Amino acid sequence: MTTAFGHALSIAVLVLLHQILSAQADFISYANQFVDPAFILSDSWKATTTWAQSSILDDAQFVAAQGPWAVTNKTYLPPSNNTHDYASLRPYFWPDCSKVGNTTQLTDEQIERECPYVDRDGQFNPDIHKVNNTGAFSALADSVFYNGISWAITKDSKYSTNIATEISTWFLNNATYMTPNLQYSQLVRGPGVHNGSSEGVLDLKGMAKLVSGVLILRNGKAAEWTSEIDTGLVTWVKEYIVWLTTSTQALEERAMPNNHGSFYFNQLSALQLFVGDTAGAKATITAYFTGIFQNQIIANGDQPEESARTHPMHYRAYNLAAMVVNARIAAVVGYDGWNATTKAGVTIKAAADYAMTFKLDGEEGYTVQELTQPVAEIASVYGDPDGKYAQWMKSQDTQYPGQPFYLWSPGLSDSGLKAAASGTGSAPTSTGTSGSHTKNGAGTTRFVGMVTCIVFIVVSVGGPFIF
Ligand SMILES: *[C@@H]1O[C@H](CO)[C@@H](O)[C@H](O)[C@H]1NC(C)=O
Ligand SMILES: *[C@@H]1O[C@H](CO)[C@@H](O)[C@H](O)[C@H]1NC(C)=O
Ligand SMILES: *[C@@H]1O[C@H](CO)[C@@H](O)[C@H](O)[C@H]1NC(C)=O
Ligand SMILES: *[C@@H]1O[C@H](CO)[C@@H](O)[C@H](O)[C@H]1NC(C)=O
Ligand SMILES: *[C@@H]1O[C@H](CO)[C@@H](O)[C@H](O)[C@H]1NC(C)=O
Ligand SMILES: *[C@@H]1O[C@H](CO)[C@@H](O)[C@H](O)[C@H]1NC(C)=O
Ligand SMILES: *[C@@H]1O[C@H](CO)[C@@H](O)[C@H](O)[C@H]1NC(C)=O
Repeated sequence: MTTAFGHALSIAVLVLLHQILSAQADFISYANQFVDPAFILSDSWKATTTWAQSSILDDAQFVAAQGPWAVTNKTYLPPSNNTHDYASLRPYFWPDCSKVGNTTQLTDEQIERECPYVDRDGQFNPDIHKVNNTGAFSALADSVFYNGISWAITKDSKYSTNIATEISTWFLNNATYMTPNLQYSQLVRGPGVHNGSSEGVLDLKGMAKLVSGVLILRNGKAAEWTSEIDTGLVTWVKEYIVWLTTSTQALEERAMPNNHGSFYFNQLSALQLFVGDTAGAKATITAYFTGIFQNQIIANGDQPEESARTHPMHYRAYNLAAMVVNARIAAVVGYDGWNATTKAGVTIKAAADYAMTFKLDGEEGYTVQELTQPVAEIASVYGDPDGKYAQWMKSQDTQYPGQPFYLWSPGLSDSGLKAAASGTGSAPTSTGTSGSHTKNGAGTTRFVGMVTCIVFIVVSVGGPFIF
């Protein structure tokens, strides 16, 4: 069998596979992700990650079917009255009308203008859903990420077309483009000017995902990624970087010692990489590892800034995801973030080892899926000589070789769960039962249940991820 024929066959099987399988139930929006485009374009993962590849194709199509998304798609306007301005509402802030009047007689407009808004940490004000630019951007970032890798898997133009359309709609088209700043992100209502908050900068952390997908198309020379779109996005990003590096709002976020700061560095370094400013990206990454990172992990591996929070297990996993993305971007720009140590003398690995000792499913609203991706990446990078990580992965998720991250975690054992074609040389096959993922003798499915799906939608759309 020739390589070309084998390649065509494996694509055909994959395409068939994801047509048979139902994609909806198991989509997970991870806290953040970054892949080295050179690794993805190397195809070195092709033979050993068939199951993960089919999941990525599913996810790409599932999320793209909901797009394209536009920041202008809202009726709630920020003080500028400009629909092109990104807007979101501060999730834990509630109106206190006790000194204003009879609440039942106040209109929504009066409440927003006259009642001071006070912080009730951890309690979501459901009326933040008056505007959903946050959910739209999150879905856009997931779509660009998974469609980029799907294009690398198949070279099918439908995936690159999805990205071209989505990027043009969100950033470039005259009718729908976003103004390149977050001045009204997580804005606080009440008397006076409704300005955004520094915390709102977190809303666009998914830029690391988006840049991954776009760089795969650019470096892989996908025809649909035209020079016009590339130039347009570069111009947009350069303007946005000015805002990200000079506005008081963004600089306050950069100085945050916890996950907010970590995610700021994800976003800025990825964008600098995208505009070709590798030196700037390296300086940003260096500033992270020599800066706030120094106090983020103590000797036993705990993250004091996160464990002090209302959901410590979630927040440990959340900041771990951000630290891992910073180290992954670091590797691309020539900085060794994996060996970087905090003041306590420990690396990111220590944070993973400590977080793994807790059962994340025990915390209301969260699942272990938050932790499995960064742990897989840690195992891949630092090695797993005694099989500790593979064993933990299997104990948490018997589908893990079928999760997207398995594709970019080379070296992590599949624990016999058969990540790819075995013995016979055939790709995983589906029994097609109940529309679930039943592959290659794994005996179980990647379907982690509607509950997990709903939890992740809540979590990713204005959920507790927002400080
Ligand atoms: C626009 O927003 C509405 C309400 O949030 C949503 O139902 C719809 O899907 C959005 N459309 C697009 C194209 O994003
Ligand atoms: C936005 O619209 C409101 C209501 O029409 C108006 O009071 C306000 O002055 C406008 N703001 C700007 C900046 O145009
Ligand atoms: C507020 O207004 C409602 C409806 O007009 C009335 O029934 C209620 O008694 C008022 N409450 C107070 C505290 O004045
Ligand atoms: C916000 O948008 C996302 C992405 O389209 C969607 O999944 C989510 O359901 C929306 N949330 C609300 C409250 O409309
Ligand atoms: C873009 O929109 C502006 C204002 O809506 C309009 O004046 C301008 O002609 C439009 N430009 C193009 C290229 O369509
Ligand atoms: C609102 O934000 C703008 C831009 O960051 C700033 O110039 C202005 O002073 C802020 N207004 C208030 C009342 O904080
Ligand atoms: C840490 O540094 C050592 C020595 O330079 C190197 O061999 C190793 O690959 C680095 N570890 C990682 C995870 O990059």
